[in-house]
Amino acid sequence: MRSNRREVMALLMAGAAAPALSSCTGGPDPAAAWRAPGAGESDLRRFALAHAILAPNPHNRQPWLVEMVGDDEVRFFVDVERLLPATDPFDRQITIGCGAFLELFDLAVRQRGKTAEIALFPDGEPQPRLDQRPIAHIRITDAAAERDPLFDQIVRRRTNREPFGERVPDAALLARIAALGAIGAAQSLTIESVQGGALRDELRRLAWDAFEREFRTPAAHMETVNLIRVGRKEIAEHRDGIAIEGGMVEFAKMLGMVNRSTLADIDNSQTRDGLMEWRPLALEAPAYVWITTPDNTRATQIAAGRAYARLNLAATAEGLAMHPWSQALQEYPEMAALHAQAERLLDAPGEARVQMLARVGYGPEVKAAPRRGLDAHIRA
Ligand SMILES: Cc1cc2nc3c(=O)[nH]c(=O)nc-3n(C[C@H](O)[C@H](O)[C@H](O)COP(=O)(O)O)c2cc1C
Repeated sequence: MRSNRREVMALLMAGAAAPALSSCTGGPDPAAAWRAPGAGESDLRRFALAHAILAPNPHNRQPWLVEMVGDDEVRFFVDVERLLPATDPFDRQITIGCGAFLELFDLAVRQRGKTAEIALFPDGEPQPRLDQRPIAHIRITDAAAERDPLFDQIVRRRTNREPFGERVPDAALLARIAALGAIGAAQSLTIESVQGGALRDELRRLAWDAFEREFRTPAAHMETVNLIRVGRKEIAEHRDGIAIEGGMVEFAKMLGMVNRSTLADIDNSQTRDGLMEWRPLALEAPAYVWITTPDNTRATQIAAGRAYARLNLAATAEGLAMHPWSQALQEYPEMAALHAQAERLLDAPGEARVQMLARVGYGPEVKAAPRRGLDAHIRA
């Protein structure tokens, strides 16, 4: 269990932390979307969307918008107001989150025995930033499709930021979840893992160094700070971003110990203590898993997101906890040297890219991260 001190200090700091939520009194329930998603929906598109919005996505921005077209089509857009320009300057990670969304949509359509025909970037691939053009046009057809057992894991899947303990997942198990992750990827990609030896040690160090670098990069740090939702009231109001809650958090907030300026101040002693709480998570990670692609087109980023969603679901089915650790993969100038190191260590030369890096192991159960709910994503 987290100590209260850790609850208050550590959660505040962590660049990418979005700890679990318990149900919330007053205001909309941030965890409602996780309970029986799509129950009672007769329109298969709404059923599929209710699952798709449970996808992992950077900083929990949930930047997904859809337009219903006719009776069986959906046009899928990114909400350009919900990008992360400091930590994700080319929207690569946001696109990965869109891929995860599409994978969950697809799994839900299959669950009803139908097929989702997904045409990516029908008006062209937006580069170097995403724009108002659609990410995908989806048509649901009656062509029979097989159900995928990963569907059952959608509501159980979590990003787990707790310490994982010493038990190391065995190589065969990691290979099995990697294979399930990569199934059906339209673009070629590889999913690899390491659970011992020199490479794991180097990745542990790299993960930590990059986390610390982000903390010391004002624009990147502030992007996170501005998305922190402190306490139940703020969480219920926003139902996105980096949620922190708990009795001590409410108390610290009331006392003025936790607010935007304390969080923004990297010299604040509590803030620094909080940062250091994340160190062992990186340095003692039992295993790392990563996804590499031979190029970095938008379609490839979507494929990487679909694969990551599947990997996370497959891990869930096997009782494994997973936690992306993305800082070293980010493309802002202050991260360049560590980014180059990541590509070297993980063998992604030239056009190739490491799209995801995550720590994996056995962790305690964590609760669901907030969601804004289906209707927030449907554009008239
Ligand atoms: C491309 C991508 C990058 C991510 N990077 C991080 C990260 O560096 N650190 C982290 O704690 N979570 C990371 N996440 C996980 C998201 O923060 C998480 O999916 C989101 O908060 C929603 O929580 P959930 O996965 O439990 O539903 C990443 C997710 C994606 C898709």
